[in-house]
Amino acid sequence: MDPLAALADTRLVPVVVLDDAAHAAPLAAALVAGGLPVAEVTFRTGAAVDAIEAMAARGDMLVGAGTVLTPAQVDAAVAAGASYVVSPGLSRAVVERCQEHGVLPLPGAVTATEVQAALELGLTAVKFFPAATSGGAAAIKALSAPFAGLRFVPTGGIGPDNLHEYLGVPSVAAVGGSWMVPGDAVRAGDFETVTRLTAEAVRLAGA
Ligand code: 3PG
Repeated sequence: MDPLAALADTRLVPVVVLDDAAHAAPLAAALVAGGLPVAEVTFRTGAAVDAIEAMAARGDMLVGAGTVLTPAQVDAAVAAGASYVVSPGLSRAVVERCQEHGVLPLPGAVTATEVQAALELGLTAVKFFPAATSGGAAAIKALSAPFAGLRFVPTGGIGPDNLHEYLGVPSVAAVGGSWMVPGDAVRAGDFETVTRLTAEAVRLAGA
């Protein structure tokens, strides 16, 4: 299955910030146990490459890289096993490097001009970030009128209380967020909390 279809299938993307790559394996197990065999591991920490490698090595997870800002990070993410690459904004250099590697780029686009730039690069899906402060689900609905066929993956300010607003928009493929993977729980080795929050999110997304 291609990564966008797989994301549209899971409907949810846990956004992961890991300080210690040793947490990647138990975190992956916790997400899978909660019903979400997917993660976006952000390049906000030096643990990203090793964490992607550990998660991808399981063979049963869709592992993406997040906060990818440079073509060099695309190379590192792909070498580690990432199958999609998320960026907060739209960088032609990052998108083109993804296309060279044959991995799905998901650059951020929240204005009509940014969406048009993404379409010119041949993209059929973008991240919508930061979702809540960029107009939320209403803004995605408005953008979907002129850009029929484009899929959105909103993240930023989404959680159990508002994920339905986004999942109710037909052009939204999936929503992402960090609420399922609280940093303090991960640092404390409390992976049961991750499984509980993940299972709750899966239940809400399916309801
Ligand atoms: C992202 O990178 O997609 C966001 O930082 C996730 O946003 P959240 O922490 O508000 O869920």
